[in-house]
Amino acid sequence: MNFKDQIDKSRLPEHIAIIMDGNGRWAKQRGRLRTFGHSSGVKSVRETAEGAAEIGIKYLTLYAFSTENWKRPRSEVNALMTLLVKTLNKEIKTLHDNNIRLLAIGDLKSLPDNTFKELQYAINETAHHDKMAMVLALSYSSRWEIVNAAKIISEKVQKGELTPDDINNDLFSSYLTTANIPDPELLIRTSGEYRISNFLLWQIAYAEFYFTPKLWPDFRREDLFEAIVDFQKRERRFGKTSEQIVSK
Ligand code: IPE
Ligand code: IPE
Ligand code: MG
Repeated sequence: MNFKDQIDKSRLPEHIAIIMDGNGRWAKQRGRLRTFGHSSGVKSVRETAEGAAEIGIKYLTLYAFSTENWKRPRSEVNALMTLLVKTLNKEIKTLHDNNIRLLAIGDLKSLPDNTFKELQYAINETAHHDKMAMVLALSYSSRWEIVNAAKIISEKVQKGELTPDDINNDLFSSYLTTANIPDPELLIRTSGEYRISNFLLWQIAYAEFYFTPKLWPDFRREDLFEAIVDFQKRERRFGKTSEQIVSK
């Protein structure tokens, strides 16, 4: 039986987040430039998004570029930004065809003008789609996001618009770039690295982690379905005992 058929549709994660890693190594294995790995990863994005929408996932967040990635060689950063513009332009059809809405999180103001404009265009054009939201994390880092939220909240406290007593988990969450997006239940990282790399630190408090050695350009819809099947075998206890969960 293939993995798709093993998925229990009544217990799907609502939100899956993916750290798409390994493009550079994939290209190197083929004697090619790192940028070839990035462009080859677009197919994996398309497959994953289509597969996720098809089975009924509501939010798919993809870590595409971190705040720390700005420190890569200028030529690679430029190539990634160019690829992003090209891909947004070309793949808008995939979003329309699959009823997928595009969203973005991160320090979007730090993106080059044309990248930001193309992104905004794709977000506006797909705003009416409601099968799934694909959230691109761009110039994103969790520490940036948390510090940014703390700044906004403290300014509001200073102006008297909030009091320290108003600050709780829900309020804090509402000042993150993921406001209105439920926390991911499943976090996938490709390429055999076992780290989070500054991604959604607040939001993954109770996420299940799934690591695969596959490099991102090799990741296909069946790999996503395999991760979901694995997720569904886990017992999520949220601090309670197993007996409490079973007797519910
Ligand atoms: C992930 O692949 C894509 C981005 C971070 C933009 P990498 O470029 O990190 O590939 P590796 O990890 O060097 O193989
Ligand atoms: C994480 O991958 C960021 C993205 C996938 C966009 P990196 O390749 O930048 O992470 P590290 O440097 O290996 O931790
Ligand atoms: Mg990497």
